Amino acid sequence: MLLRRRGHQLIGVASRSQESAERARSFLAAPVFELGTSFAHTADIVLIGASNAAIRDVAEAIAPTLRRDSFVCHFSGSLGLEPLAPVADAGAASGALHPVAACPDVVTALRRLPGSAWGVTCAERLEPWAIALVRGDLDGVPVMVEDRDRPAWHAAAVVTANGVASLLALAEAVLSSLGVGSPEAVLGPLASGVVANAVEKGGGAATLTGPVVRGENETIRRHVIALRALGEDFVSDYRQTARTIVAGARRAGRLDEAAEARMLQLLEEV
Ligand SMILES: NC(=O)c1ccc[n+]([C@@H]2O[C@H](COP(=O)([O-])OP(=O)(O)OC[C@H]3O[C@@H](n4cnc5c(N)ncnc54)[C@H](OP(=O)(O)O)[C@@H]3O)[C@@H](O)[C@H]2O)c1
Repeated sequence: MLLRRRGHQLIGVASRSQESAERARSFLAAPVFELGTSFAHTADIVLIGASNAAIRDVAEAIAPTLRRDSFVCHFSGSLGLEPLAPVADAGAASGALHPVAACPDVVTALRRLPGSAWGVTCAERLEPWAIALVRGDLDGVPVMVEDRDRPAWHAAAVVTANGVASLLALAEAVLSSLGVGSPEAVLGPLASGVVANAVEKGGGAATLTGPVVRGENETIRRHVIALRALGEDFVSDYRQTARTIVAGARRAGRLDEAAEARMLQLLEEV
């Protein structure tokens, strides 16, 4: 859809199951093709949006049908060019374009992708083309990523996306146990504000607030005691989170060694 808005023509879609192909066809109003038939021959760009474990199989299926001047890419963050080797062996160009966005469904993806960063890995000669595709056609921000760096690049994205969502889920469960209705309405603006602070004022380390950077061991002790009354699960999750906060504050130079040691000991004992 995003590429179409910028004048690209959608030649067709293919999927392993009839049901998914139909869903794509009705959403995109594009013809459905069998994977591995010659339709890919007519395409300048082939996008593989399959789950990570399936990318190589799809690349193998389409490789014999590709033109040598076509470009094939996948969207995985952790994988580089290796799963596209069958495509490269067939003489086509390959690239990995990872949108740094959390996309639980297609409609949400269309809202999240414009303005997002994209991790780009491709042969050097293709870089200008890939950068123009991301910046010009997808309204994204291209960031070149070395092939070998992609797992760590992806780890950073996962820590952010899944870390925030999981911590929100934990905090929502705590508020629900206290009988607070719609905990997401209480915590959502807090989370949005934290992210805005980090983006506007120099990152998470610089904008970390709260009892750890204030050295408030007594507050942390009270947290643990209160959470124990709600459930032992909450205590272990809080401990792990607090250790991560302590480590982050220490790495950022916001906590000295002695304060770090006192907090870690408190978290062991309480
Ligand atoms: N979701 C995100 O937020 C996000 C963000 C950035 C990057 N990505 C990347 O985008 C890609 C797709 O992610 P996703 O979340 O959409 O994944 P997904 O929901 O797990 O899978 C997408 C599609 O892969 C197809 N598939 C699975 N196994 C297959 C096989 N053996 N052969 C052919 N097709 C197969 C599935 O087909 P069926 O419908 O038939 O099961 C499904 O439609 C991944 O590389 C992921 O790393 C995702």
